[in-house]
Amino acid sequence: MRCDRLWRNARLATMAGPSGAGDGSAAMGFIEDGLLAARDGRILYAGPAADAPAFDAAEEVDCAGRWITPGLIDCHTHILHGGNRAHEFELRLEGASYEEIARAGGGIVSTMRATREASEDELVASALPRVDALMAEGVTTLEVKSGYGLDTANELKMLRAARRLGAERPLHIATTFLGAHALPPEYAGDADAYMALVIDEMLPAVQREGLADAVDAFCEGIGFSAGQTERLFAAAVHAGLPVKLHAEQLSNQHGAAMAARHGALSADHLEYLDEAGIAAMAQAETVATLLPGAFYFMRETRLPPIAALREAGVPIALATDCNPGTSPLTSLLLTLNMGATLFHLTVAECLAGVTRNAARALGLADEIGTLEAGKRCDLAIWDIERPAELVYRIGANPLHARIWSGQ
Ligand code: NIG
Ligand code: FE
Repeated sequence: MRCDRLWRNARLATMAGPSGAGDGSAAMGFIEDGLLAARDGRILYAGPAADAPAFDAAEEVDCAGRWITPGLIDCHTHILHGGNRAHEFELRLEGASYEEIARAGGGIVSTMRATREASEDELVASALPRVDALMAEGVTTLEVKSGYGLDTANELKMLRAARRLGAERPLHIATTFLGAHALPPEYAGDADAYMALVIDEMLPAVQREGLADAVDAFCEGIGFSAGQTERLFAAAVHAGLPVKLHAEQLSNQHGAAMAARHGALSADHLEYLDEAGIAAMAQAETVATLLPGAFYFMRETRLPPIAALREAGVPIALATDCNPGTSPLTSLLLTLNMGATLFHLTVAECLAGVTRNAARALGLADEIGTLEAGKRCDLAIWDIERPAELVYRIGANPLHARIWSGQ
């Protein structure tokens, strides 16, 4: 059988183990003497060398026993933004809280000002070093949210800039429209009016240009209520866009359950999620995207209900939440370590969280996230003895090669 490229002598973590395979090598789909073949940017075969058909390969790579995992997926970022918030970090070190800073006109609104001032070119240029840091660790798909424009022109500018990141780099970009991230000052005291603008003007404009793959909101005391968010979600679903939600990060607004009722791809953060929210997510198969970088940076002490999520069979994803306010983090490998150390996730859960389940959180489970025939050939090849090293080490980067769409 003809193929473009063949990787031999590889150990594979396909991340496609049978469900119910437990928590170890079977769940992660370990294959010791593995072979992977690609054609036209897709995986043609990934499995034991002994079972592989005879391939006629244009190019062959000897992996010398290195491990291959699916290319990593960072499924929740605010990587595009103007400026930074190092000064607010200093204020927090002196005792100010995130909410106090936000209510005093800092927080998301201070990044909004810097983002409005930046041109589309400047936004792209300032994000690229952060994007490059993630790619250097094997990231092949990146979700990018808007949400620092907070008016129609600037939200569109952010989403166009987000799409351009995928033209500037060999990387799949999934864009998320987050117009309902915070109340801009010009709407102070009238969140309903701003939400009407998001629904009636921004969302249709975003749709006309095909700029968003999903719609998100910040459902929180300092964001939008579950009722306001529900109006947006109804409009998004009506427009054919899937939804996801920043939910239960600082308090329980019952946002995750509402999101699940709208078939949300994911509910994210979830430190204050309750039993009813977990049950609703399980029923809707909504992914729980956990963001240990924000938990760490905010010195949060309340853990997301990990054991209950696990018990209910809710798929768990992990992401950097890369943003200037609560998670200035550009390492998905460090995020894995935090997932294990701070959130008590197993190695299998951590790795599924940045591959298979991250793909589900983006609605891309048929395309990416596992090493299976038919999926895009996005790979990370690692200089490690066992996949647990990806979770175990702090500050190490054992990436040997990153393959994107077979290249
Ligand atoms: O995911 N929670 C809301 N959004 C971001 C924070 C954004 C910011 O502070 O700039 C988050 O934590
Ligand atoms: Fe976020």
